[in-house]
Amino acid sequence: MTDRAAENPARYPGRASAELAADRLVASDQPGQRPACPRSRILGTGSYAPKRVVTNQDLERLVDTTDEWITTRTGIKRRHMASDGEASSDMATAAARQALAAAGLTAADLDLIIIGTISPDHPMPGCAVHVQRKLGAHDIPAFDIAAACAGFIYGLEIADQFVATCAARCVLVVGVELLSCKLNWKDRTTCVLFGDGAGAVVVGPAEWRLRPPGRNGPPVAIDRPAGILSSMLFTDGSHAGALHIPAGGSAEPPSLEAVRDERLKVHMHGKDVFRTAVRNLVASSAQTLKAAGLTTKDLDWIVAHQANLRIIKGVATRLRYPLEKFVINIDRYGNTSSASIPIALDEAVRDGRIQPGHTVLMCALGAGISWGAAVARM
Ligand code: ACO
Repeated sequence: MTDRAAENPARYPGRASAELAADRLVASDQPGQRPACPRSRILGTGSYAPKRVVTNQDLERLVDTTDEWITTRTGIKRRHMASDGEASSDMATAAARQALAAAGLTAADLDLIIIGTISPDHPMPGCAVHVQRKLGAHDIPAFDIAAACAGFIYGLEIADQFVATCAARCVLVVGVELLSCKLNWKDRTTCVLFGDGAGAVVVGPAEWRLRPPGRNGPPVAIDRPAGILSSMLFTDGSHAGALHIPAGGSAEPPSLEAVRDERLKVHMHGKDVFRTAVRNLVASSAQTLKAAGLTTKDLDWIVAHQANLRIIKGVATRLRYPLEKFVINIDRYGNTSSASIPIALDEAVRDGRIQPGHTVLMCALGAGISWGAAVARM
């Protein structure tokens, strides 16, 4: 990107900005002084859920399960499932269009596209390239993050870093998952848990207001400075086998045997993941709040990954934060993996629960295991 950017700086505005930031960094590089990099903020949110709805009663007809078991053990009542011919990039593009509209921006304003997904349209190339094409956002970099349920938090942190270093001004971050095609529909321990969907945010400089008049619009004064206040990411690869798709990669290439034995589908030791989930979500949330100089008392909302209502309740108890202040939609969506936080965030922004100026903690954990948290003032 660097050489092409030098040839054509107008096409890569982030490059020119990065040079400016480097100058400012040198000028302000005093001990104790915050470098003069812009803070990033969430400018707009969007989401998409496929039309098809599958209820617990539908699943009772498929595997040996009950609505009662699924509801009491997970909190899930129904989930959305993609239709035949609907791909992850279709869902991601729909969510992205909403987020851009909410931000008052267009695809032409984007400098970078990051997609959190473990269910891309094809093994190669990534889902992000299809989203770029469908949005008509030509030539900007676009790549996927395979951090499973933590994919959105990972994407948000990367977007924040790009904006903070002036390498990009406007970044689209999408969490999208079409896990229904990666489930073993004979395995009741996994197939009842997941749903399909997409959520998106547009991240840009904090001085832009929620609906900026355009890239060159005047900065708007904000009482409580908005922005991504802190974020932290973690991975513990020693738990890689707790939640994985064993075959289909280089370690075990696809084969007829792998298909027959359902080794191209999600395998999970639910109890192991459950045990690590509450502990790590709580620890990373506490560390992220501390890094921002905040406590749970400063929060207006928590948007935790929607994997299991019992995990969310465990996090609420251990953080001593009221469950009513968690955005919860697992009953209607199931676990949509990387899409779960941006879908819940978008719902709460659209129905007015999350307001401009609110401070929101987001935290997620999934396969890897990978996890993380971020605090954003909207
Ligand atoms: N219907 C009825 N019975 C079931 C079902 C079902 N769908 N699934 C399992 N059971 C049975 C089991 O066979 C077991 O029966 P047994 O006692 O006779 O052996 C019993 O119910 C209890 O099973 P457990 O696995 O102990 O149930 P648990 O209470 O642990 O709940 C669950 C399972 C919901 C999977 C839970 O462990 C969980 O939520 N784990 C974490 C999931 C998670 O957070 N994943 C990370 C994100 S996903 C990602 O990254 C893509």
